[in-house]
Amino acid sequence: MNDPAIDSPTSRTVLKFGGTSVADLDSWRTIADILRRHGGGGGADRLLVVHSALPGVTDALEVLADPGGHPREDPRATAEALLERHRAFGRELLGRVPDEVEGELEELRRLAEGVRLVGEATPRTRARILSFGERIATRIGAAFLRAEGLPVEWLDAHELLEAMDNGSRDAATRWLSAQCDPSLDSEVRARLDALPGIGLTQGFTARSREGDTVVLGRGGSDTSAAYLAGRWGADRLEIWSDVPGMFSADPRRIPTARLLRTLSYGEAQEIATTGSRVVHPRCIRAVREREIPLFLKSTRLPEMEGTQIVPRPADGSPSLKAISWKSGVILVSMETLGMWQEVGFLARAFEVFRAADLSVDLVSTSETNVTVSLDADANLLQDARLEEVAERLGKFCRVEIIRPCAAVSLVGNRIRALLHRLAPALEVFEEHRIHMLSQAANDLNFTVVVDEEEGERLARQLHRTLVSQPASPRLFGPSWEELVTDDPAERTQTWWEDSRERLLELMDGEDAAYVYHLDTVRHRVKALRELAGVDRVLFAMKANFNPEVLGAALEAGAGFECVSRGEVEAVLDLFPELARERILFTPNFAPREEYQYALEQGVRVTLDALHPIQHWPELFRDRELFVRVDPGEGAGHHEKVSTAGWRSKFGIPPSEMDELETRLGAVGAKVVGLHVHAGSGVPSQDHWARTGRFLLAMAERFPDVQVLDLGGGLPIPQRPGEVPIDLSAVGAGLEELRAARPGIEIWLEPGRFVVGEAGVLLARVTQTKGKGEARYVGVATGMNSLIRPTLYGAFHEIVNLTRLHEPRTERVQVVGPICETGDRLGMDRLLPPTGEGDVLLIATAGAYGRAMASSYNLRPPAREIVIP
Ligand code: LLP
Repeated sequence: MNDPAIDSPTSRTVLKFGGTSVADLDSWRTIADILRRHGGGGGADRLLVVHSALPGVTDALEVLADPGGHPREDPRATAEALLERHRAFGRELLGRVPDEVEGELEELRRLAEGVRLVGEATPRTRARILSFGERIATRIGAAFLRAEGLPVEWLDAHELLEAMDNGSRDAATRWLSAQCDPSLDSEVRARLDALPGIGLTQGFTARSREGDTVVLGRGGSDTSAAYLAGRWGADRLEIWSDVPGMFSADPRRIPTARLLRTLSYGEAQEIATTGSRVVHPRCIRAVREREIPLFLKSTRLPEMEGTQIVPRPADGSPSLKAISWKSGVILVSMETLGMWQEVGFLARAFEVFRAADLSVDLVSTSETNVTVSLDADANLLQDARLEEVAERLGKFCRVEIIRPCAAVSLVGNRIRALLHRLAPALEVFEEHRIHMLSQAANDLNFTVVVDEEEGERLARQLHRTLVSQPASPRLFGPSWEELVTDDPAERTQTWWEDSRERLLELMDGEDAAYVYHLDTVRHRVKALRELAGVDRVLFAMKANFNPEVLGAALEAGAGFECVSRGEVEAVLDLFPELARERILFTPNFAPREEYQYALEQGVRVTLDALHPIQHWPELFRDRELFVRVDPGEGAGHHEKVSTAGWRSKFGIPPSEMDELETRLGAVGAKVVGLHVHAGSGVPSQDHWARTGRFLLAMAERFPDVQVLDLGGGLPIPQRPGEVPIDLSAVGAGLEELRAARPGIEIWLEPGRFVVGEAGVLLARVTQTKGKGEARYVGVATGMNSLIRPTLYGAFHEIVNLTRLHEPRTERVQVVGPICETGDRLGMDRLLPPTGEGDVLLIATAGAYGRAMASSYNLRPPAREIVIP
């Protein structure tokens, strides 16, 4: 141990650990290693560790601190679970629960019980309760590190950080969203410099002037660490979490996002403010004030450099760093009734927001209109407050509230110089409204506000066109998908990894084969049928008409959605006993005789144009029909699969409903179902409920409607590291929808979701070739079996099944044998060194793979094999 008197520090480093990186024994071993690598607190390199509560603990403490606000939770049970969780954590790390931890737990239990009896807590008590997550976790963390032989001293954050009086009139803000001064403090410096080893303290909490506990608001542990770095005069702040830094987009939604190696404070602050959650903007603001370099690093990949945030951009040239997006944005548009010239208009308007304690995010002005955006999260916006604002503004301008919206931001140095590259990305927005464009005066941010549902699509499109291309290796590190492919914790094991041996055996003597895993098909149908808001699932058999796949879907309880006479016939041949009403025929520009056939068979029929009823009215006399409506806006993974809006040929627009109603009435036909399928591979989980609300409004005019068929379109993860859609959120939206009109049935007709992940294409390597920089790996089948990459630029993960666990060291183009340059299955893929005879596996190929295959070049497509 060092003697402070003779050993004044040569470097001071604050390390902050949070989230899952403090959650278990393995993580704590990693933390101990990291501290050892930093010198272990001996010598003149001083360390201060700040860490947060265990994941989820602050949420649970919220329940104890505000039982009235969480009526569904039982505060007693929550308290018991919390105590038990910390005891278990203590036992995991230390083999016991230290006395000081029991002391803290007892105090928390007492406080929580008091609040429960009274039914509510003052902001002061709430802050105290919320601070316990950090207090308890740091007690256990410190004891563990000491047991590992590190000279750690537990410090009470109250003694190091004092909140400023931020002048807020709102007591809740003062206690629960406190701020501190990051300036150097000689007392704190002396105290920390004099520590014989490593200091360890709590994030998120500080003391008020009066000496009470206050907390810093969400994301507060990062901010605490930054304040402490400032007060101590640290040379660097390291924030360790489970992601290795900032990315060019949210990597869990856009796995092609690249790690950003270096950013200026300004850029990092913009990225943090516009949606990235890696580090809180307040934290960056604090280190920026003191010009302390900030390093973002991952406990999962401790060797990796991560993101470095420094005072000035690496070079001054224009560069786009990131695309971020934020949902829950509310726009307030103020039409100025010709009073624009009037002095003080803006001042009056902003006074209204100030009085309502609403902070305005973006502002855009024109001669007659001022539009501002409000961030629903930050403002904890309640409808009542918004209405009040609208009413007050309404006294001197015309007000429109536009919600929910998403704000998609481009962030980078000198962004204005890059705007000309935006046009191709915005093309997909021809039929969508862009509510607002806003360009920040600091030239670091350009923001587009669109309907919430479109935010992710726009972000993906912008990322694809502006960032994904080969980018400067100095600024951009590896992509998220590259990082996680080799990280078992980040991927869910697929059925095909489990069945590797079996698949290789099946390929004995074969060049190429589609393999379908029927159990996955059955599971997918069941998962949808189990959603409380879904009454019926129809499998869209255009995605895959393999008889055994159809059998598995039926067995799990699906009906069928068919788009041609051929599909209806195939189902009836296979399953002659199937109740006809479980088949829905949804033709588009089909000839008259197909409608006649379907009606004669007694299957349900959807009208998707006026033509049939205008020209063949007798066919529909006294029939019960479905009507496919065009909601006016398409969705989906590619413009070619967006099946609504004026550019698509599907559906009847609302403007033609009067005529439809009259003509159907004339032949006594009834509309019993309304249908929308707006696109395929829709990334937004709100899409179906929103479509449903649209149909519900339309159902007002058709009294016989019993069914809302919300189409297919559910997406599947395609890239390693991509998160699947949150089905329960989709289901909850639909349940709410159905509650609005009891008795109505909700149907879904997914294709991709049911079979996409159930199928893989296996293909044997025929030849390899190097040509200039490019390396090609050729396989026995290509676009004749799988046309999606060629047609839509679709991504399918490709692995070398023969060498599944060998390091992937070569970047190659995977191509087929077809006489077209477009015959590529994957571009720039990482594979292990690959040779003739190896079997490549092309994943997520179960939907629209074999179904869209051809015999182009007289090369028959891969044959199909099923496994149970
Ligand atoms: N319902 C109707 C009326 C449809 O037109 C479709 C697909 C679906 C349901 C099923 O959509 P899904 O759940 O599979 O997204 N070949 C393209 C997809 C075309 C989809 C056409 N209609 C692809 O490979 O991405």
